Amino acid sequence: TPLDRIRNFSIIAHIDHGKSTLADRLIQRTGGLSEREMTAQVLDNMDIEKERGITIKAQTVRLDYKGHVLNLMDTPGHVDFAYEVSRSLAACEGALLVVDAAQGVEAQTLANVYQSIEHDHEIVPVINKIDLPAAEPDKVKAEIEDIIGLPADDAVLASAKSGIGIDEILDAIVARIPAPKGDVNAPLKAMLVDSWYDPYLGVVILIRVIDGSIKKGQQIKFMQEGSVHLVDRVGCFRPKIEQLADLGPGEIGFITAQIKEVAQTRVGDTITDAKRPAAEALPGFKEVQPVVFCGLFPVDANDFEKLRESISKLRLNDASFSFEMETSAALGFGFRCGFLGLLHLEIIQERLSREYDLDLITTAPSVVYRIHLTHSKTEPATTIELHNPADMPDPNRIESIEEPWIDATIYVPDEYLGSILKLCQDRRGIQKDLTYVGGRAQLRYELPLNEVVFDFYDRLKSISRGYASFDYHQIETREGDLVKMSILVNNEAVDALSMIVHRGTAEARGRGMCERLKDLIPRHLFKIPIQAAIGGKVIARETIAAMRKDVTAKCYGGDATRKRKLLDKQKEGKKRMREYGSVQIPQEAFIAALRMG
Ligand code: GTP
Repeated sequence: TPLDRIRNFSIIAHIDHGKSTLADRLIQRTGGLSEREMTAQVLDNMDIEKERGITIKAQTVRLDYKGHVLNLMDTPGHVDFAYEVSRSLAACEGALLVVDAAQGVEAQTLANVYQSIEHDHEIVPVINKIDLPAAEPDKVKAEIEDIIGLPADDAVLASAKSGIGIDEILDAIVARIPAPKGDVNAPLKAMLVDSWYDPYLGVVILIRVIDGSIKKGQQIKFMQEGSVHLVDRVGCFRPKIEQLADLGPGEIGFITAQIKEVAQTRVGDTITDAKRPAAEALPGFKEVQPVVFCGLFPVDANDFEKLRESISKLRLNDASFSFEMETSAALGFGFRCGFLGLLHLEIIQERLSREYDLDLITTAPSVVYRIHLTHSKTEPATTIELHNPADMPDPNRIESIEEPWIDATIYVPDEYLGSILKLCQDRRGIQKDLTYVGGRAQLRYELPLNEVVFDFYDRLKSISRGYASFDYHQIETREGDLVKMSILVNNEAVDALSMIVHRGTAEARGRGMCERLKDLIPRHLFKIPIQAAIGGKVIARETIAAMRKDVTAKCYGGDATRKRKLLDKQKEGKKRMREYGSVQIPQEAFIAALRMG
């Protein structure tokens, strides 16, 4: 396809503003699918995506419209997948900004719009859902201009649901979004935008060709990964798979190259010709690093092997989470896993339970800490990264601990502002900005990631009855007064419950945890102390009273010696139990205890 006939664009939208519905309409209008095939939303093709209404994996569709090839790049819609979003955006020259005519501009939209602007995109505003009685297109136009700073005069008014404005959107894409640039004679240079595992095709790689061209039988090289592969298929999605002879500059499509694992393909890598390589790789490549870690353990110890297999299978299709074996005194054998964020964690957890039918216990999520250690007798001073509170080094060697911080943007209707400010303050937030836009406050806070991973998002949503929106990116690590808090049940530390906390919030957290465990652990024949401790110092304590088995009841009063003997025997029994350390902590207790209140 000649360059001036190609348009590459993505759709930016806040969750629920109608991105998928609009994408389906565009596909339908340009003849990709029949009415009958349109029954299920096409782009969101994973179950969990559908249920949660969010897009997890990027997909792309090639549309033919009035002699032009339009490539619609779908992007993941959640902050956890920000890097994947950035690569998808880098593959496009423009974007449709879809804003709900009744809801207006939201925080998530903003973050993505700014990213899109950073990629020099031409942005076409689309005001969707104008069929709704509550639609206020003029107000939304004003918001787009005031809040985002984009001209919105020629925004397209549309209803993806009733099919209004679809041709106008397609015409605007052709007229307003610039054609890609590229040199067909230069050595091949293509960006690896995304990849996934397909049971029939193996690993499918979504690419955007910058220069040169790629065809079947070509030897290609991944410049960052350093590996060489033979291309065995080239094609595109309409959204059904169609094989093509080649992909030239400016084009978006897929290749397969007999690759077995997604982990061998890295988003943002540069694909070039193995024999005639490009001089340099594309800019912007980043190694994706998990930021949230937790342990996953099978409820039934016999499921460990099944868990290993299932995790390995999931990992085939998602190189962005990591896992390694972990053992816990309380929970047995399991895996320490790293995720891009809490949503990512939940998705993996949900897939394990749903697709692989596994009952799992998740330990307290932890972020990555940088710990500066002084030298010891045998080791020099050094800096380590800590993913697991259980691996906390000897406190005497700790010089300082740094924790990751984020920059968060929160949109919240005025009436909930007070409670949200308090929440941010309680979580050690530093307010950077507070402005009003329409009836809503736009808040900017710097927050320690550690205070956000537990339940910040849930709290935010419940405080604001779902109206607050939240978006963040990591900024830097900062030194903090951080300590490891252990939870002791019957004087034994339960490793799965230990966590790294700020000294200032430790007591409140410790108390909350002890109180919850008190309710969750059933009574035993002996008294069970539950303590939260920092080092050797107990900062909170609860006691579960003993269940008194009335052994003397059988004695019908009378015989005092016999009574005493029985009591002695019972004491012995208690001791043995304690020696075995046999407090039965029900599995639900772990999950419930970790749910911060
Ligand atoms: P994510 O995939 O989570 O980003 O959501 P989305 O932006 O793709 O939203 P989706 O297309 O799933 O639409 C969200 C809801 O809005 C659905 O219930 C749609 O039926 C509805 N919807 C989409 N477009 C319109 C529209 O033009 N008018 C009306 N009334 N409803 C719409």
